[in-house]
Amino acid sequence: MNLRRAAIGLLCLTVVVSLGFILVSCSSLEQTVVSPPIIEGASFVGNQACYYCHTNYVRTFAASPHARIHFEGAKMAGQSGCESCHGPGSLHIQVGGGSGKFIINPGKDPAVCFTCHLETHAEFNLPQHHPVIEGKMNCVQCHDPHGMDIMKPARGLAMARLNESCAQCHREQTKPHVFEHEAMRDGCVTCHSPHGSINAKLLVDRDNNLCLKCHAQTPGPGVASGQIFIGHEDHTDKLRMGGCYASGCHTAVHGSDIDRRLFY
Ligand code: HEC
Ligand code: HEC
Ligand code: HEC
Ligand code: HEC
Ligand code: HEC
Ligand code: HEC
Ligand code: HEC
Repeated sequence: MNLRRAAIGLLCLTVVVSLGFILVSCSSLEQTVVSPPIIEGASFVGNQACYYCHTNYVRTFAASPHARIHFEGAKMAGQSGCESCHGPGSLHIQVGGGSGKFIINPGKDPAVCFTCHLETHAEFNLPQHHPVIEGKMNCVQCHDPHGMDIMKPARGLAMARLNESCAQCHREQTKPHVFEHEAMRDGCVTCHSPHGSINAKLLVDRDNNLCLKCHAQTPGPGVASGQIFIGHEDHTDKLRMGGCYASGCHTAVHGSDIDRRLFY
């Protein structure tokens, strides 16, 4: 996937260099399609039409990536960001608003998100995934659709780091430790795919490959000896015992209170 992204990035660069003006939309050329949601008989009215009744949402919304969405050909005043998720709002407003009145609520069903975020949809269909499609979890537990930062959970505290959005539900892995694993500083997503993965425990890589991304495996001092060193320690015999964390060795991958080497 990373390779594909890099390729898309390269493609973007080429396009931007040659055309010079489609920078914003290009960042997600292949992953995000913008297809307007449909509500039978309703038309798009623009964000300002929601202001009178949902003032706070419209106020804070300007910084959201969705605020930039425009539907080509839609008859409307101003931006159509609100309606990119909630569908065209004319009928909702005509009847004076109200719950379940001609408006889509993606908090109840994220299907509308998937019409544009195809890649995210595919991720939630992988063998290991957060149970969003099953209706046990929701996008808004990790993404604030209305606020300044869509990468934070909605109604959350002022969360400083991505890790803290996982902390609401995963206390054990997010608590502080005497011996921290520095890999945690880059966030949970260095090792876990937040939506879904083909690997157990939502891991981005399998087995030792996960750890060897950062901890290089080097030949010992006497190359002929066939020794393998990891982190300045001879691992030749240890590796025969099994995987880095699955063998009962570095089982405290999220940090340890007992041993610098991440043992329990
Ligand atoms: C990225 C998609 C997205 C965009 C864009 C968006 N919303 Fe929402 N909206 C949601 C989701 C998801 C929920 C459900 C939130 C929940 O269940 O906590 C929601 C809920 C709401 C609700 C119901 C709140 C409640 O308490 O029941 C209102 C009103 C609302 N949005 C208005 C707006 C307005 C106005 C805008 C534009 C300024 C907007 N939304 C833009 C996704 C979006
Ligand atoms: C005339 C006032 C009014 C206007 C204008 C209005 N709404 Fe609403 N809306 C309401 C009321 C009242 C509710 C029900 C109470 C609530 O959830 O806040 C509601 C509820 C909602 C909900 C929750 C629906 C549900 O089933 O849970 C969403 C989403 C929403 N509005 C989006 C919008 C969007 C987007 C716009 C602009 C296109 C808009 N509204 C314009 C009055 C209005
Ligand atoms: C009408 C199409 C459309 C719908 C529906 C839609 N999005 Fe988006 N979304 C976009 C576009 C376009 C962007 C900005 C371009 C990009 O970065 O992909 C975006 C950006 C995002 C981002 C930030 C991506 C980034 O890399 O910064 C998140 C998170 C997101 N959307 C979540 C949601 C959620 C959650 C829903 C449903 C509640 C939703 N979207 C519904 C089109 C849509
Ligand atoms: C368990 C928390 C969680 C849930 C639930 C979740 N996301 Fe995400 N999402 C994340 C995190 C964390 C990232 C940032 C990933 C990164 O930086 O590598 C992300 C990134 C994204 C992006 C940017 C593109 C990408 O994949 O990096 C989009 C779009 C997105 N999410 C959409 C959604 C939609 C739509 C839903 C609901 C159907 C959803 N997410 C549910 C945590 C979550
Ligand atoms: C709203 C609660 C919630 C949030 C927020 C949340 N998760 Fe989860 N997580 C769950 C649930 C529910 C499961 C599924 C548990 C199960 O199937 O037994 C799960 C499963 C997992 C698993 C797999 C566990 C296993 O035993 O297979 C990992 C890894 C994980 N989450 C990491 C994360 C990360 C990283 C984040 C932040 C980006 C996050 N979670 C945010 C609720 C949450
Ligand atoms: C250095 C890589 C790495 C980082 C960073 C990381 N994890 Fe993990 N995580 C793992 C590995 C490896 C496992 C599987 C351990 C096993 O199978 O014994 C795991 C397992 C889990 C599980 C399943 C728990 C269980 O008992 O099986 C959850 C939940 C989880 N991690 C959440 C998180 C959260 C939340 C963060 C961020 C605060 C995070 N992880 C950061 C590597 C990491
Ligand atoms: C994102 C990079 C990254 C990943 C992935 C990663 N680590 Fe680390 N790890 C570090 C950094 C940085 C340190 C601190 C500097 C050092 O000791 O190399 C560290 C330290 C350690 C230490 C303590 C070393 C010492 O002597 O103090 C152990 C043990 C360890 N990691 C094991 C693992 C295991 C097991 C995995 C796979 C589950 C893993 N690491 C994955 C970056 C990473």
